[in-house]
Amino acid sequence: MKSSEIRNAFITFFEQKNHQFVPGVPIVPENDPTLLFINAGMNQFKDVFLETGSREYSRAVNSQVCVRVSGKHNDLEDVGKDSTHLTSFEMLGNWSFGDYYKKEAIIWAWEFLTERLGIAKNKLVASVFEDDDEALEIWKTHTDINKKTIVKCDAKDNFWEMGATGPCGPCSEIHVYLDEGSVPENVTQDDLNSGKFIELWNLVFIQSNRKTDGSLEPLPNTHVDTGAGLERLVAYMQQTSSNYETDLFSPVIKKIESLTNKTYSESLEGMPHRVIADHVRTLCFGIADNVMPSNEGRGYVLRRLLRRACRYAKNLGVSEPILYKCVEDVIDVLAGHFEHLKDRQHYIEKVIKAEEESFLKTLSAGLSMFDQVVNSLKKTNQNVISGQAAFKLYDTYGFPIDLTALLAQEKNLTLDLKTYN
Ligand code: SER
Repeated sequence: MKSSEIRNAFITFFEQKNHQFVPGVPIVPENDPTLLFINAGMNQFKDVFLETGSREYSRAVNSQVCVRVSGKHNDLEDVGKDSTHLTSFEMLGNWSFGDYYKKEAIIWAWEFLTERLGIAKNKLVASVFEDDDEALEIWKTHTDINKKTIVKCDAKDNFWEMGATGPCGPCSEIHVYLDEGSVPENVTQDDLNSGKFIELWNLVFIQSNRKTDGSLEPLPNTHVDTGAGLERLVAYMQQTSSNYETDLFSPVIKKIESLTNKTYSESLEGMPHRVIADHVRTLCFGIADNVMPSNEGRGYVLRRLLRRACRYAKNLGVSEPILYKCVEDVIDVLAGHFEHLKDRQHYIEKVIKAEEESFLKTLSAGLSMFDQVVNSLKKTNQNVISGQAAFKLYDTYGFPIDLTALLAQEKNLTLDLKTYN
């Protein structure tokens, strides 16, 4: 199935179960100072869970672009190292606002994955929060999952919170097994995090509000908030474990190959291709929603992504602007569902090109300075980059501190962040 067919199948499946399709919101949260970017499909419904707002419908379905580069949910460091983390992704979700609860959420998720998408039942694992016997019982009695592939997990993985405060609750996740054969019986929480599984879907049973003092306050009603990462679902359905080999990313990867003359590799060598593809996509979503690369706040997040991507392009031997040339490939894939991207394509290209040109003026000189610093440290057997050097890279050469940290990490060096700060 193509990615667009999987997205549509999800939306139609829940529409047929009386869910209202609600478009995703722009990635800049409108009324939520606790968030830099939309980080989950439920953000736009936070007021409904807290009962400070209401909707005309009690069931909803949508696809929401989420950005996870700051705060509680930050995947930036993992992007490119593996092939599953992204700085922005589409979250498919179905919601119940005081309507159905755990039973329907579990039964429908199972039905969608196994009947609508046809994923083999012996490849799936369900996890439940360790205290949630109700969810455990529902999985055992209302689905035909192998009971020995239901795993109890602790709060680290199975109690979902959107941030330091806000609506939250225990969750039940569905993971798919990537190795040959059936899921081994009696899998553990560690197995789920071992790289042999991918989490496909998170069913959150919203029942509490985390307050600023850290306490949990029960909500007046219980709700359902689910999130399935489209890119991961597509990867599995297209028989790859990598987002970058799906139809959502492969045209962009191919473009990067042709612009750099460097073949993509699934191994660590392919990290620059993956980072560039991911970061350009997030830049497209951000700039389309009117965030301009700048020196602070959301704009600085975009600038950091762009500069990181420039440096990876340089690793592939390219010193002229190429990121903006990937924009059309990113947008061609997504425009069927996100029309606003197509409308803003030329604007996005212009913004990215100007930013690239500006950073490329100082990138090479900054990298030479970095090399000099590394050489002098090596000569004296030291391994800490001084705060002064990091600050000069920032102030004179425009290197965001996380870029310097990345360069340092590649050389097995650390940074004196305290002095830098
Ligand atoms: N809020 C949950 C998550 O982001 C499910 O949608 O994973």
